[in-house]
Amino acid sequence: MSVIHTKINNRSEGFKNNQSHYDQMLQTLRQRTKEAISEGRDAHIARHRERGKLLVRERIDLLTDPHTPFLELSTLAAWGQYSQDIYSAGIVIGIGIIHGIPCAIIANDATVKGGTMFNETVRKHIRIQEVAEEHRLPCIYLVDSGGAYLPEQDRVFPDKDHFGNTFHRQCRMSADGIPQISAVFGGCTAGGAYIPALSDEVVMVKGQARIHLGGPSIVKIAINEEVDGESLGGAEMHTRVSGVSDYIANDEAEALGRVREIVAKLNWPTTCYADVKPVEPPKYSPAEITGIISADPKIPYDVREVIARLVDASDFQEFKPLWGEGVVCGFARIHGYPVGIIGNNGVLVSNACLKAAHFIELANQRNIPLLYLQNTTGYMVGSDAERKGIAKDSAKMVYAQATSRVPKYSIIVGGSYGAGNYGMCGRGFRPRFLFAWPTAQCATMSADIATNVMLELRRTNLKKGAASEEELAVIEQTVRSQYETQSDPYYATSRLWDDGIIEPENTREVMGLCLALAAMNPPVRGNAPVYRM
Ligand code: COA
Repeated sequence: MSVIHTKINNRSEGFKNNQSHYDQMLQTLRQRTKEAISEGRDAHIARHRERGKLLVRERIDLLTDPHTPFLELSTLAAWGQYSQDIYSAGIVIGIGIIHGIPCAIIANDATVKGGTMFNETVRKHIRIQEVAEEHRLPCIYLVDSGGAYLPEQDRVFPDKDHFGNTFHRQCRMSADGIPQISAVFGGCTAGGAYIPALSDEVVMVKGQARIHLGGPSIVKIAINEEVDGESLGGAEMHTRVSGVSDYIANDEAEALGRVREIVAKLNWPTTCYADVKPVEPPKYSPAEITGIISADPKIPYDVREVIARLVDASDFQEFKPLWGEGVVCGFARIHGYPVGIIGNNGVLVSNACLKAAHFIELANQRNIPLLYLQNTTGYMVGSDAERKGIAKDSAKMVYAQATSRVPKYSIIVGGSYGAGNYGMCGRGFRPRFLFAWPTAQCATMSADIATNVMLELRRTNLKKGAASEEELAVIEQTVRSQYETQSDPYYATSRLWDDGIIEPENTREVMGLCLALAAMNPPVRGNAPVYRM
């Protein structure tokens, strides 16, 4: 065992200051999450209940096995983007366990604009389908949606990654043997009708569920036919007459029970391919992480102290501890599952890049998933670094990471700036999951540096003439404000640049679930050797 021995004094003033600073950020996160889940729409929730309908997360509770976790993604999607709050973008996505089988769950929230689709709704829908495809998870659709949110149709309907893509993915997954099951609780109009229509098996709730390509008003306008919603697309009609639905349920609980039965009989394997050991808690409490992260982002801390609170028994076999200290690399276990961790611990110079690249190759050779803890201002700049070949050495780190075969995960724990974001497996490099802590900051560079770059560009732009003090003040104010706003973790999570903001203390549990999911797929083998860098 290579147990990390902490140097943290959890009674010191510094520790307590850090913790109380972080606590305020956690209060904000918890408050915003609570709002997204259940606040600000009392009238819509009351009307929903009067109709005898369950709230979306109550449906998920009934669908999944008791006392099992539901890993919800992107709860704060669409946060602060529209003139009205579009809570969780009107859709709940995540991974839940049904009869012991992890399933991707995609559930519309009809209390938010009738469950209609905004841009972020569609992106969440696609994101969880992507997760399902990558991990081979059966998909369960709990449908209650009016289709496209019509005023936003240009951001929802026509493009490659818009609504059509959800159906394309459904067809492709079914063809690839990944089950697609729908339970319909409310409206399924126009495009939305294809969610159940393209499913392998469909359940409809009597008196509530409707599936139609055009609702009664469209039918009246188009062909002058007068028909009520129930006769046009109700559960009785579709289950007994058209055959669009396979089962009718008397109420929501019965429908969810039927979906559970379907999943139980899927003949779906749950083999584990990883070498899992008994779980051991870390030697130091994960609750201490918030006292380690400096309240002042300019004051560094040792990432090993964070790792000591994330991994089993705080046991971390560090690779090359005496070389390339800008990154810390090593093997450990989280909830018994093997993992290789790469964490930033200073500026990225050439030898740190080479060490990371070498370590990625080791993890690939041993089929050990990789976890990146991002806290970087980027790669070293300047003539000394360039002469030492930082461009080609950082490229090696990027190459090794991008072509890595093992599952990759990223957690943005601090700064994720510039090319450092690429090397440390930013969203563009397709980590299986990417989560952020409330301290995350993701941008091309910090607000300070961006402001100075833009001021310098203006000062040296002689075609525009000499810059006045007023003009420079406007540039300073505009650029700083833009960068501060756009580096905010809530700005990022609202736009699905991550899979959600999580609390440091819960990270171990979240990662345990992620690693367990990946362990259900056989490893992809390759034939590249380990190049000594
Ligand atoms: N686009 C924009 N807004 C829509 C919408 C749509 N497709 N469907 C519903 N809304 C809005 C409503 O205006 C209402 O807004 P408000 O909260 O500001 O009052 C809110 O969503 C809830 O709709 P409401 O009709 O009051 O709820 P409901 O539960 O009785 O019915 C639907 C929900 C979805 C069944 C019903 O609204 C409907 O049929 N909508 C039209 C669906 C449609 O034709 N879609 C075509 C998509 S291509």
